[in-house]
Amino acid sequence: MQIMSQSLEIATIIMIVESILFVIITIGWYFGARRMHFDLHHKAVYSVVLIHSITVGAWMIPRAATLAAEGAFMDLVANGYQIVHDLVGILAVTFGIILSIIFLTRKDMPLKLLKRTRPLMISTLILWLIAYLLGIIAFMVQIMPSAS
Ligand code: HEM
Repeated sequence: MQIMSQSLEIATIIMIVESILFVIITIGWYFGARRMHFDLHHKAVYSVVLIHSITVGAWMIPRAATLAAEGAFMDLVANGYQIVHDLVGILAVTFGIILSIIFLTRKDMPLKLLKRTRPLMISTLILWLIAYLLGIIAFMVQIMPSAS
């Protein structure tokens, strides 16, 4: 019982952190990329990718391993949202890390880089949004166990 409530507390913190990261991504895109404020845009990308890699590495991947060990992923219908969340999430994080490495190593041509990396940034944003929305479902299922 105590383990369950601890897990819910962590899930709530993760949910709040992920929501804040989502706001930072939106700020980075709207006020940074769209208005050519490269510094703001790049700082938003670095901080979101860094904090997000910690939440995924320290909480989500171990949780996914536990769910897999419990056989949750065998039920593709009931847990389809979680499987899609994990797969889309892995892609989104990988794309985010690739973008950060590109921005960190090529500081000399910010405008050209933003133009060239546009398709990758848009794909990352879309995948991130899908993973985030499915993460909200994962969270709701935990706080309302009868919904699962
Ligand atoms: C852009 C990428 C991602 C976003 C925005 C995201 C977002 C979220 C959010 C908001 C939650 C709800 C909080 C919670 O229940 O703990 C969550 C839960 C979870 N995520 Fe992610 N996530 C991402 C990537 C990943 C990846 C790469 C994995 C693992 C391969 C993963 C596995 C999980 C698992 C297992 C849970 C908890 C489900 C449970 O305990 O029932 N997520 N995610």
